Amino acid sequence: MKNYIKINNKIKPFSNKISVSSDKSISIRCVLLASQAIGTSKIFNLLESEDVINSLRSIKKLGVYYKKYRDYYEIRGTGLNSYVTNKKIKIYAGNSGTLARLILGLLVNSKNTVTIDGDKSLSKRDFSRVTGPLEKFGAIIKSKNKSLPVRILGTDFLRPIDYFEKLGSAQCKSAIMLAAIKTPGITKIKAKKSRNHTELLYKSLKIPIKILNTRKHDYIEIEGQKNFKAFNYYVPGDISSSAFFLVLALLAKKSKLIIKNVNINKSRIGIIKILNKMNAKITLKNKKNYKGEKIADIFVESKTKLKRIICPRDLNSSAIDEFLVIFLVAAKAEGISIFKNLTELNKKESPRLDIALKFLNMIGIKFLRDRDDIKIYGNPNLELKGNYIIKNFRKDHRVFMMSCIAALTFGGKWKICDKDSIKTSFPNFLNKIKLLGAKIN
Ligand code: S3P
Repeated sequence: MKNYIKINNKIKPFSNKISVSSDKSISIRCVLLASQAIGTSKIFNLLESEDVINSLRSIKKLGVYYKKYRDYYEIRGTGLNSYVTNKKIKIYAGNSGTLARLILGLLVNSKNTVTIDGDKSLSKRDFSRVTGPLEKFGAIIKSKNKSLPVRILGTDFLRPIDYFEKLGSAQCKSAIMLAAIKTPGITKIKAKKSRNHTELLYKSLKIPIKILNTRKHDYIEIEGQKNFKAFNYYVPGDISSSAFFLVLALLAKKSKLIIKNVNINKSRIGIIKILNKMNAKITLKNKKNYKGEKIADIFVESKTKLKRIICPRDLNSSAIDEFLVIFLVAAKAEGISIFKNLTELNKKESPRLDIALKFLNMIGIKFLRDRDDIKIYGNPNLELKGNYIIKNFRKDHRVFMMSCIAALTFGGKWKICDKDSIKTSFPNFLNKIKLLGAKIN
């Protein structure tokens, strides 16, 4: 079957209400934490994408039973020290950095060597950011050139650590937090701001955690070796998946969209703050609180007069997965947009900063790059007429989806390869845009 799509027409005006796929970060965390709880957890609206399916398969390999029911997954945990690791085990994390890095945290007390492997894209990513701190707990970890496959052998003599997480990586922070629940004593983390779903889950599960939030850093203390009870969780919609639709509605002609039931956690809504600074006027309604997470419906309408942004650096972390589509808005905005310190963007499923700049170049948008700072010279009259082929992007799901949004709003004739990539985070993506009227071949 062909693994590319063609888009030859811009999307027509639409007015609709949709839901998007469930939050990937929360889905993976729920699976991993349920596998460590005591009793049967029920996870409703779990994201059924490859990253999450690989998470379920991983806990199964470690001896945890799960079953899919009509509208929830049941996961039967038997406590903190219950992973069956008395034989050598291989775990396949596929494309998921979150799964590979977080599960390493839970293996710091494995009895035997567990090998973590992944697909080509994941095998190019840096694992020293998690193996470094996890070795300090006492685990023995081996890898070649800081990357996958990583082999971990745990210890019975875990010692708590005091760690400064400087990258602003939630995966790194969470791997340490997961190792901390296995470790007697108090683990202390000073972390540069990043998404805080693990912290909120710990609080709602009554895992002993203390948090002090300051403007730039979070100070976290976790008391380990305290078993916690199974839980029920309803996973909300993903803001990172919503981002493609926000930008689609914003850049399309005379369109309106409501995205229902999306997680609007402060550590994730950088995209909304950035787009609103660019005059998008996105609003949040029907706000609710769910186990510490904030949920809302997002309202967005087309805007013809978008302004440039000088993007405050402290929004980088809360918009980290959304910059590809933010750059599309900057391309169509009046004036020169400035983004600084985007180092982490090149450490994702693909080197997204490099890829985004190649993309802007291809569609005739001027930019300047100074290491990890970029200036984008917007063109409010941008109308594409050429033929464009998007390939060789390491099957990065977000590059695929961003290209679809560009094709549907900027015009031109497009062939976009590696359609399968959307299975990692948003298997329903193409059906959802077709629902809004997009013509895709
Ligand atoms: C994630 C954290 C971010 C993000 C990724 C998911 C998470 O990565 O880009 O898509 O669920 O913790 P980093 O921790 O590398 O910043």
